[in-house]
Amino acid sequence: MHIAVLMGGWSAERPVSLQSGNGCADALESLGHRVTRIDMQADVALRLAEAKPDLVFNALHGSPGEDGSVQGMLDLMGIPYTHSGLATSVIAIDKVLTKQVLVPAGVPMPGGRIVRSAEIFERDPLQRPYVLKPVNEGSSVGVAIVTDDGNYGNPIGRDVAGPWQEFSELLAEPYVRGRELTTAVLGERALGVTELKPKTGWYDFDAKYTDGLTEHVCPADIPDVIADACKSLALEAHRLLGCKGASRSDFRWDDERGVDGLFLLEVNTQPGMTPLSLVPEQARHIGMSYAELVQAIVDEALR
Ligand code: DAL
Ligand code: MG
Repeated sequence: MHIAVLMGGWSAERPVSLQSGNGCADALESLGHRVTRIDMQADVALRLAEAKPDLVFNALHGSPGEDGSVQGMLDLMGIPYTHSGLATSVIAIDKVLTKQVLVPAGVPMPGGRIVRSAEIFERDPLQRPYVLKPVNEGSSVGVAIVTDDGNYGNPIGRDVAGPWQEFSELLAEPYVRGRELTTAVLGERALGVTELKPKTGWYDFDAKYTDGLTEHVCPADIPDVIADACKSLALEAHRLLGCKGASRSDFRWDDERGVDGLFLLEVNTQPGMTPLSLVPEQARHIGMSYAELVQAIVDEALR
């Protein structure tokens, strides 16, 4: 099969996407597919029209590869593609829209409200500790944790004042103390639960992508009732949002509150496929190699 792997692009997660894309492209070649690697620029439609692939493997992260734009273009061009479709992508990239779909259906998520970034300099939008995050970024880009002692978490790759100036609006959410958990879904199956234990600070961009900065405990050493809840909530979120192929749901668990302390933070419809990424790690744990996972994502796209 001739597969075009879309990667790169111009979101803040471009370097992550290049790692994901090249990893997936290498795997697809090892499986015998003919692969065209496309670093997405504004001429992507022309490049695809020339390449005439049978399928696009979407390895983009952030906008416009994860927000429905690329999905809409591929729908118009009649090219099948991996991962979620247009409507799902539009909703899932937006942390506020995601809450609007999932919370009424009974999925526990932290409350929160949109604040103008200028407001943050005037007063705290919520009681501390709270989290400030852009509505539609990934990999913790622009995220800061505002703690009781007034220290702002360091938003990676930008100076401390950066995210609040760069984004006109931010989502402020109560900070859920406790533990960081994640669950991948492939098709109809939740693959497992991983706990992320950053050696210092929190699971920010550096902790996500620098080898050795975060311990990954897979399967997580947590009570069965919590692991089962993560899996069933991840499956339910995948289903409610209409996700296709692979998704990954991220959680915080306040371990002093039992199952009532479990909150889904977000659903990632284009989860990372880098060497330190969590979906390949959970797949490996259940005996599925990276190449088998990539082929399974292709198979899901063609179902
Ligand atoms: N946004 C990154 C790529 C992830 O969810 O893995
Ligand atoms: Mg994300």
